[in-house]
Amino acid sequence: MEKLFEYIYSDVKYNRKELYHALRKLSDIFLENGIVNYFDKEKNLFAYLYYFYPQNVLKNYQVLKELQLSKFFNKFRYKKMNVVDLGAGLAPSTAALLLFLGDIKVFPQLEITVVEKSRLAIEYANRLIHKVLRSHRSGKTSIKIFRGDFRKFVDKVDGPFDLIFMSNSFKEFYKKLGDFSFMDRLSEMLSPEGMIVIIEPGARRESRDLIALRNYAITSSGLYIYAPCTFTGLCPITEKKEEWCHISRPWDPPELARDLGNMLKRDFKRIKYSYVVLAKRNINFSRYVLKKAPEGGEVWHTFTELRKEKGKIKIRACNEKKWVEIERLDRHRNENNRDFDKLQSHTLAWFKNLQELQEWVLRVGEDSVVKILYTLE
Ligand SMILES: C[S@@+](CC[C@H](N)C(=O)[O-])C[C@H]1O[C@@H](n2cnc3c(N)ncnc32)[C@H](O)[C@@H]1O
Repeated sequence: MEKLFEYIYSDVKYNRKELYHALRKLSDIFLENGIVNYFDKEKNLFAYLYYFYPQNVLKNYQVLKELQLSKFFNKFRYKKMNVVDLGAGLAPSTAALLLFLGDIKVFPQLEITVVEKSRLAIEYANRLIHKVLRSHRSGKTSIKIFRGDFRKFVDKVDGPFDLIFMSNSFKEFYKKLGDFSFMDRLSEMLSPEGMIVIIEPGARRESRDLIALRNYAITSSGLYIYAPCTFTGLCPITEKKEEWCHISRPWDPPELARDLGNMLKRDFKRIKYSYVVLAKRNINFSRYVLKKAPEGGEVWHTFTELRKEKGKIKIRACNEKKWVEIERLDRHRNENNRDFDKLQSHTLAWFKNLQELQEWVLRVGEDSVVKILYTLE
């Protein structure tokens, strides 16, 4: 990944002020969810490249790592893998896939179709992809370009695809179509082992929209949840409009991205996103980590960061039945429950002797035991 980032920042076009203004404009466009061809302006494209692209490569990479808990990629050691990157933009998903396969040393024969309506974005995506292909080992890879509306692509092409990416693009498709029925078609296009990776920004509105899409996909498109939820069923926070679910991880941004983040007054020390991985068959990431759970007790999946309050810390967690708040008083901290301090969003943790204060509030007490089973690194 470093080599890719070095390449991006080796010849920076535009000064910081120009990039900052372009990013402000882009943010307004994303906020209003407007359908404009923002990548047709080179300045916008470069602002996106320097600021969003590295984050998006990293987010996709983390999701792929989680996919590999099921040894998903090993299946393609000896068979062709068919991938599509829908609304690819500069194609951070494709770059992340190539980098990840190189890192785990799995080199399938790959066919990746980049679907994107912007000519300029395709031109630069191609350069970035070929940079990765030149500097990292990969299997026999063919990159196909479909320039145009994603709808035309899904009408014309049947697949089957083993992996479908929609990174920060589903909202633009949805806005155009006005409903989620495109998910039915994507489901039809998946191979029996296939997965759909959808990533969105880590903000309340985007998370809520993704929850709506996930609920649709499992009830109407015949898909299952691989991650981040530990179950395929309606999300327990669906009715709670103020609740949302996201990933938040510290990261070390490239210098220019950090400077732009500071100019935009963004909390740029953490990388934040919402995501869902949908599967054609009933398979869930938790299966591979629950093996580590001791007998008895209960397992919860966290969906927020830890929050500090006077005399206690708390976090929200869910399972297929409900969501709860789990808290621990500072004075109850001890050897047996100190894993509670390390909880982050999207952690699977095992608890013993949780006290039920209210139906929705659980407490880790002096007698409780907490053990982390899985968390993103
Ligand atoms: C916010 S960008 C995300 C790009 C990239 N996937 C990423 O994560 O950085 C959304 C992309 O979807 C493309 N897009 C939007 N609507 C589209 C459509 N109907 N057909 C094809 N591409 C579309 C836009 O041109 C843009 O490149």
